[in-house]
Amino acid sequence: MPQPKDSPSPIPPGDTNISLEQAERLAQEYGNRFLLEPAPDHQLPELGMAAVDAMRLIGEELVLDGIPMRNLATFVTTWMEPEAQRIIAENLYRNFIDHAEYPQTAEIEQRCIRMLAHLFNAPGETTGARTQGSSEAIMLGALSLKWKWRARREEAGQDTTKPNLVFGGDVHVVWEKFCRYFDVEPRIIPLQKDKYTIGPEDVEPHLDENTIGVAAVLGTTFTGHADDIVGINDLLVTLKNDKGLDVPLHVDAASGGFVWPFLYPHSEWDFRLEQVRSINASGHKFGLVYPGIGWLVFRESSDLPDDLVFTENYLGKTDATFTLNFSTGSAMVLAQYYNFVRFGHGGYRYIMQTMQQNARALAKQIADIGAFRLVGGEDEEQLPLVAFQLQGEHPYDEFDVASQLAAERGWMVPAYTLPPNADHIKIMRALVKLTLSHAVANALAGDISEACETLEKKGGLHEVDRRRVHTGTGY
Ligand SMILES: Cc1ncc(COP(=O)(O)O)c(C=O)c1O
Repeated sequence: MPQPKDSPSPIPPGDTNISLEQAERLAQEYGNRFLLEPAPDHQLPELGMAAVDAMRLIGEELVLDGIPMRNLATFVTTWMEPEAQRIIAENLYRNFIDHAEYPQTAEIEQRCIRMLAHLFNAPGETTGARTQGSSEAIMLGALSLKWKWRARREEAGQDTTKPNLVFGGDVHVVWEKFCRYFDVEPRIIPLQKDKYTIGPEDVEPHLDENTIGVAAVLGTTFTGHADDIVGINDLLVTLKNDKGLDVPLHVDAASGGFVWPFLYPHSEWDFRLEQVRSINASGHKFGLVYPGIGWLVFRESSDLPDDLVFTENYLGKTDATFTLNFSTGSAMVLAQYYNFVRFGHGGYRYIMQTMQQNARALAKQIADIGAFRLVGGEDEEQLPLVAFQLQGEHPYDEFDVASQLAAERGWMVPAYTLPPNADHIKIMRALVKLTLSHAVANALAGDISEACETLEKKGGLHEVDRRRVHTGTGY
């Protein structure tokens, strides 16, 4: 066949004895040079590559990652509507912190905060912050607790050197992180063999005049249940009335904040309770937005200490900020507002009920396998997930099941042990989000059953295979 004009002369495969120019021409004609070379990994390449090549290089490496929709460990959103994706794509260049230049974006943030304050039953006008996620929201909320405690103590002429914060072993690691970063003594209530959340009787012995606050969880990372927030609130109200000790309660509603108002509207955990002074929620979890958005909402504006807010002159205009970061994207704030106006209360309720229904159907199928016991019954308030553990004697454990599932169809269903003193308890957990439809949940249940059959025959996995197991709880 005649060669097209200007095409390179064919070079036998494997012939590396060609010039750079020839290699470039061949790559232009037939493929990409990166296919034959290691990916740049320790210094900037001398010369770059074509945009399409760079895109393909990254895309082909990402194929090696797990598929987010099969990641049943993560609470974080793995799918948004195309219209939301368009809002995100069209606003990646909008720096959120630049309130003066993008006042409408700032107004949309404030609308989201007002809507959340209303959803969480704040008694009146209040304030809050958009954050990178619940971790930043918790840092800011807990800093507010510390500042308020210190101001109270200073005013009374009392010592301010030994602040402590009380929370259960069922919290996310961010609470310990806060204590270490900001010099607060963590008073961690250990979990027990059959009690994976905390209540007032656990909290009471740890409280004193140096307690800056108590943190309670709505929807734990481990089993999806809530601490006894009503009980803890009652304890703190009694303490205030009887001893004059005003200990505030912060609710970590990272996952539960977008679930409880829709599935359990009559359950009180929010600002309906007197001592609840601040709440965080992850927009990127059941708020149904892609990663990068969290919220902090105060009961009243006065719960945010004035001196945590920085007023500065930025690009010639006065601006107030309450954040740990500065420049960041606007896209996820806009995406959150998109969800709020697109779904409304009714839409969120429908979506949460759908997830719950699918979670219950999956739970039933897992229970029917016979090898497992569910952690949490239908009558218990819980995030839309299935937490389960093996019952009876088996030649394998939860970690083996997780590994077998990963090997067979790439499922990421985590197996983990609970925090102390329940660290001998092993649990598996599957989040049921919008991407786990009834049909896909059926397939998962079938795969779990098959994994058990396989393991029953061949026994637990070799140590090498077990290394594939997802042993974190997922976030
Ligand atoms: C209860 C709880 N609090 C806090 C966090 C941290 O949230 P984020 O990942 O949004 O920073 C998580 C994350 O899984 C969580 O489950």
